[in-house]
Amino acid sequence: MAPRSRLSEPTIPIIRALMMPKDTNYHGTIFGGTILSLIDQASGVVAADHAQCGVVTVKMNEVVFRSPVFVGDLVSVYAQIVKVGRASMTVKAEVFTSRHDKPDEHVTSAELIFVAIDKDRRPVAVPPLPSPQKEPD
Ligand SMILES: CC(C)(COP(=O)(O)OP(=O)(O)OC[C@H]1O[C@@H](n2cnc3c(N)ncnc32)[C@H](O)[C@@H]1OP(=O)(O)O)[C@@H](O)C(=O)NCCC(=O)NCCS
Repeated sequence: MAPRSRLSEPTIPIIRALMMPKDTNYHGTIFGGTILSLIDQASGVVAADHAQCGVVTVKMNEVVFRSPVFVGDLVSVYAQIVKVGRASMTVKAEVFTSRHDKPDEHVTSAELIFVAIDKDRRPVAVPPLPSPQKEPD
């Protein structure tokens, strides 16, 4: 079955990483913290691109690992801003794995909130999301 959503806009992953033996837990599969770190980094890149300043992660919602990730898997993290407040940005992330001998797999999704900060680490306002393009008549 084809993998599900990779979010509506970005078809190019923000991060791709090849899983190596150093990324494993003691079961020999990939450590969940490695995947969480990739999700946080990819989502932070998208948030900082939008804010055009530094951002910090304030919240990561429930993350369910639906299937194990293995050494040799290529992990792709897709991320997109779905909501903007005054200083906060909500980012949705999706993680897929691929390997030459198996179909792509959607292993987990997450929703994160980032806050844009100034040099004194205080929240600063971010631009609104662009309004959706209207289809020509
Ligand atoms: C993020 C941080 C700067 C916010 O500071 P704050 O004094 O709580 O700021 P505010 O109360 O003005 O909130 C700022 C925005 O953050 C949002 N926010 C703060 N805490 C939140 C939470 N727990 N969940 C969701 N949003 C939150 C607010 O809703 C607000 O959004 P808006 O501006 O869009 O309305 C501060 O909590 C912080 O520095 N946290 C540590 C971040 C960090 O180090 N992350 C790395 C993890 S190790």
